[in-house]
Amino acid sequence: MRFRPLLAAATVATVLAGCSSALGDSKTGTTTSGAVRIGLLIPQSGVYAALGGDMKNGFNLYLSQHGGELGGHKVSLDAADEGAGPQTGVPAAAKLVQQDGVSAVVGVVNSAVALGVRSTFIEAKVPLLVSNAGADGLTSPASPYIWRTSFDNGTVNAAMGALVAKDAAGKSVYLLAPDYAAGREQIGGFKKAFAAAGGKVAGERYSPFGTTQDFQPYLSAAQQSGASAVYAFYAGAEAVAFVKQYKAFGLSGRLPLYGPGFLTEGGVLQAEGDAALGVQTGLQYSNQLATATNHAFVSAYVAAYGKAPSTYSVQTYDAAAVLDKALASASGTSGADIAAALPGVGSIASPRGAWHFDADHDPVQAYYLRKVVDHGGTLVNAVVGTLAG
Ligand code: BEZ
Repeated sequence: MRFRPLLAAATVATVLAGCSSALGDSKTGTTTSGAVRIGLLIPQSGVYAALGGDMKNGFNLYLSQHGGELGGHKVSLDAADEGAGPQTGVPAAAKLVQQDGVSAVVGVVNSAVALGVRSTFIEAKVPLLVSNAGADGLTSPASPYIWRTSFDNGTVNAAMGALVAKDAAGKSVYLLAPDYAAGREQIGGFKKAFAAAGGKVAGERYSPFGTTQDFQPYLSAAQQSGASAVYAFYAGAEAVAFVKQYKAFGLSGRLPLYGPGFLTEGGVLQAEGDAALGVQTGLQYSNQLATATNHAFVSAYVAAYGKAPSTYSVQTYDAAAVLDKALASASGTSGADIAAALPGVGSIASPRGAWHFDADHDPVQAYYLRKVVDHGGTLVNAVVGTLAG
């Protein structure tokens, strides 16, 4: 099936990218033409580069649907490359805040980057709307300058704990993840809920993040442990390699594979191909959600970019919606003005379903059980149930 790009979205994105060097007033976070400067901090390289692309598309789609404005202000977008970790992400955040003089920043995929840039935003009084990274400690204690439109690593995995314990029926499960903040926290959140539901862990291993190409030693350890199933957190390029090797190693069909939704989310699912069939995951979104709001969002996204949206697209589309509401009621366009307005944004009508911020500025939202199926020749994350969040 071929898709026709939506010219409006492409045009807005080009215009915004062209504005990134505009000079202006760093106190009000505006350019000389009065546009409010917003930073987009996303990976354009490394394991999570594809996630960054989906996030940029989500933000630009919201802008194109709202005449290039947020809260009645024209927007000038400054993009910076988060790269593969804190070594690149921390200086990129500092550039947006100190050099470009943005009023707010949206993005950040990697938990280690998010933890590394937290104080930069609090000290500069510039709001950071994290539209992916799930680091548990990021939003606690709550800061007026740190908000998250995605999930926290513990909660998104806890949602799967009881289900996997029930499916395993007294047998044990093996746990795998990359060795960095998010990998440890995602498995930690799952383990807590899994143990509370009577689940037994056969063992766990953490692969070096960003450099592991060969997952065979980890798959072999899972097989030899006697586990009846595997629960794994991997995302982006690592998810593709892991799921394909899971099948090649002969574990598909023998040890059911579960995980948080990142394992089969976005472009990685088509890259995984048949190896992903039957994988069950938990997440706050699937582009298969059967609601009018989601159908309209998916149609607009496909028309604009020629591919289906992911949770990364939605999380960043929603961050634009949050900024739209905050700027509409703010007394000015500075970071402090936006931060003062953020507590009043209320409910966000999202493609994932309506959600609102909790006291720590994390989303209160529904979680869905998804299963990879072949839907007329296309692999999709079919929604097969809801999970307790
Ligand atoms: C994280 O580092 O928090 C993360 C990265 C990719 C997907 C989900 C979480």
